[in-house]
Parts: sequence; C-alpha cells; structure tokens
Amino acid sequence: MARRPCSLLFLLAVLIATTPLAAAQTSCAHRAFTAGSGRVYAACSDLEELNASVHWTHHAGNGTADIAFRLPAAHAAGSWAAWAINPSAVGMIGANALLAYHDPSTGAVSVVTAVIDSYAPLVVADSTTNLTFAVYSRGAEYAGGAYAIHATIQLPGNSTRQNIVWQVGSTSSNGLPDTHQTYGDNVMSSRSWDFSSGNATVVVPKSTEGDNAYEAILRRKNIHGVLNALSWGALFPLGVILARYMRVFPSLDPAWFYLHVACQCSGYVIGAVGWGLGLTLGNKGALYSYHRNIGIALFPLATLQVFALLIRPKKTVKVRFYWNLYHWSVGYTVVILSVLNVFKGIDILQPDQKYKHGYVGVVLVLAMVAFVLEVFTLTVRFKKGGKGSG
Ligand SMILES: *[C@@H]1O[C@H](CO)[C@@H](O)[C@H](O)[C@H]1NC(C)=O
Ligand SMILES: *[C@@H]1O[C@H](CO)[C@@H](O)[C@H](O)[C@H]1NC(C)=O
Ligand SMILES: *[C@@H]1O[C@H](CO)[C@@H](O)[C@H](O)[C@H]1NC(C)=O
Ligand SMILES: *[C@@H]1O[C@H](CO)[C@@H](O)[C@H](O)[C@H]1NC(C)=O
Ligand SMILES: *[C@@H]1O[C@H](CO)[C@@H](O)[C@H](O)[C@H]1NC(C)=O
Repeated sequence: MARRPCSLLFLLAVLIATTPLAAAQTSCAHRAFTAGSGRVYAACSDLEELNASVHWTHHAGNGTADIAFRLPAAHAAGSWAAWAINPSAVGMIGANALLAYHDPSTGAVSVVTAVIDSYAPLVVADSTTNLTFAVYSRGAEYAGGAYAIHATIQLPGNSTRQNIVWQVGSTSSNGLPDTHQTYGDNVMSSRSWDFSSGNATVVVPKSTEGDNAYEAILRRKNIHGVLNALSWGALFPLGVILARYMRVFPSLDPAWFYLHVACQCSGYVIGAVGWGLGLTLGNKGALYSYHRNIGIALFPLATLQVFALLIRPKKTVKVRFYWNLYHWSVGYTVVILSVLNVFKGIDILQPDQKYKHGYVGVVLVLAMVAFVLEVFTLTVRFKKGGKGSG
C-alpha cells in the first residue's frame, strides 16, 4: 500500500502552511538601513524598481510617519535620488518630493523639498518649497553606493494609504539635479502603499510620456502571470490529481490516462509560452532571483516529464516500477515548485489583492478535492483488502 513515494495531500498541506498569505517582504531587513544613523524603523519592504527599499514607522495616534527610502545610485557626485508622496494623483505631477544630491559647492549631501508641477521640473538647489503636508524633520546620507533619505511627515488626509514615487537621476554639469531616464524602472517606480500594513498595489499613472512603456511592461508581466498561474499553477496540479485518484477505479482506465496527458500537455504548451515571456522580462537582481531560478529549473523538469511519456515502459515490465518512481517524484516536485513560484510571482507583481485571493482559492479547492479523494480512495483500497494499484 505504501508504494507511493509521497502523499500529494501532505505536500499540498505543507505548501499551504508555508505560503505566507500576507505580502510581508522582509528581505530588506538584512541590510542595515544607513551606516551609523541609528535610525530604526518598524517595517520595511524592498521595492523592485531601482533596487530601492522603503522603511517606515507609522504613529497612528497623531497620523505621522517616519519614512526613509534607500536608493542606490552608483555615481555619488553625479547623481540624485528622490522619493515623494503624491496626495493628489498617481505618478509624477503633484508629487511632493524629498530630493537628495551632492551639493556641488560643498560636496555634502543636501536634501531639498519640491512639489513637482511639470515633467521638466526646476528643482533649484536652495529650494525651500513647503510641501502640501507638514514635514517635521528631514535628512539624507550617502553610504555604500546608496542615498538614504529620511523624513518625518504628517500623512496627508491622515490616511495610511498613499501614492508613493521614487526616482534616481544624474546631475548636470553644474552639479544640479537633471532629468531622469524615461524608460524601464524609472517610469515604473510608483505604488499605492499602505503604511500600516505594507500592503502595496501597483498603480498605473495616467497619460504621461513614460506610461506607454510602463503599461507595456506591466501588460507583459500580467500575461506572463496569468498564463503561468493557469498552466504551472493549476493545470499541472489538476493533472496530477486526475492521475492519482481516477486510476484507482478500473472503470476509469484508460480515461484517466488521456485526461492526465491532455491536462499536462496543454499545461506544458501554455506554460512554455508563459515561461518564455517570463524570460524576456529580464533579470532584476536579488529580489527576483528566487522566482527566476525556480522558473528556469521548472521548464527542463516539465520537459523531462513530457518526454518521459514517450519512453515509458510497458506496465508489465519490471523497470516500469522505477519509471513510475521517477515520474512521480519529478511530477510532485514540479507541482510544488510551480505553486510556490506562482505565489512568489504574485508577490513580485503585486496585483490587486483579489487575484492573490483568487489563486489561493484555486489552490485550496484543489487541495480539498485531493483531500476528499485521498480519504475516499484509501477507503476503497482498504475495502479491496490491499490488492494494490498502480
Ligand atoms: C507623533 O507620535 C509619536 C509617537 O507617539 C511621537 O514620537 C511624535 O513626536 C509625534 N509627532 C508629532 C508631530 O506630534
Ligand atoms: C488619525 O486617525 C487616527 C485613527 O485613524 C486618530 O486616532 C488620530 O487622532 C488621527 N490623527 C489626526 C491628526 O487627525
Ligand atoms: C512654509 O511654511 C512655514 C511654516 O508654516 C511658513 O512660515 C513659510 O512662510 C512657508 N513658506 C512658503 C514659501 O510658503
Ligand atoms: C490591500 O489593499 C487592497 C486595496 O486597497 C485592499 O482591498 C485589501 O483589503 C488590502 N489587504 C490587506 C491585507 O490589507
Ligand atoms: C539592481 O541590482 C542588480 C543586481 O544587483 C543590477 O544588475 C542592476 O543594475 C541594479 N539596478 C539599478 C537600477 O541599480
């Protein structure tokens, strides 16, 4: 009876138990915030664009927040970095920014405030523009190849959810902040951010020059996500469930086999397209490497499964037992890694929460079906008196 290498049910249970439902990202925590500043924040999160991270402490009692952004900028003297809260809109126009750069006259890091009112704003060096919300303190440092810009502010509207924007650019020959790149990460660095939970939603700025690039990349990411959640994240596990439980019933033989093959093959074709699309999204550094490496490992494993089908020995041959062992272990590995990677991808893409909940629902339904069928088929096999199957 114990011929199965492992129990799908058990594995799914482990999977669900180890999958964080809240999008808590803690990988930023290992980095000391800034050298010697002594500032400690209650929470932090890595931001995928521009390798930035946001650190904050929210004081619910008076609606203030201590906020800091860490923004890598390779060339100290020739660069600036900024973060902003935009109380009126998504994107750049209306953003209330704190901008840090190396003052060309002193060489020291200087931080200025500015309300961005155009796509070519004039951020003057001695800017003392008042922001539309109170800024109680502000400062900036440059260390380890990154700017750290911190401030204590009154959250506009006493709301914990704010539109945040961050940006890095180069300075012009006179040392003053110049424009930033208008493609890639530089047009995608914006979120709707909840400073009480760290719950982020990707928001697309409307009608700016850079938006087409932003929307095009976001669209590709979304298609990649949908294709892969459907194939790797749903069809593959469904195909495994079909194979595992339907074949317990002799009357369903060979129907289970064709259903299993149909599921895995369509999953493989859709998954290959989604996988290829994922590769074109490029490597965005450490934050992505986990998702990317699992993804890269998954495709050869799945390919192996499809080709294993072609070389499968006859049921009567003894070597079939080893083929089965191999096929099952690779299959379960693929399913577990796939589901994990879909969750990882959802955390990267940060879509509206309903998509995450939707996928959690799909996994729970599959797990529940597997659980019921596991109990049911165990009972059937038990009644048969251990005649076995497979
Ligand atoms: C807000 O509350 C925090 C903690 O309760 C306190 O440290 C801070 O000084 C207060 N800020 C203002 C502006 O009142
Ligand atoms: C902000 O809202 C919290 C509760 O949501 C309230 O306790 C606090 O007094 C408010 N602060 C201000 C400055 O309005
Ligand atoms: C900025 O705010 C301060 C304090 O509220 C005020 O004294 C100052 O005049 C304001 N500056 C400008 C340029 O409006
Ligand atoms: C995250 O934000 C979205 C959009 O505002 C909201 O619908 C959802 O309930 C939030 N989730 C959590 C866990 O706070
Ligand atoms: C982010 O980090 C990755 C890897 O560490 C690097 O390849 C990439 O150039 C960085 N991007 C920026 C904008 O600094």
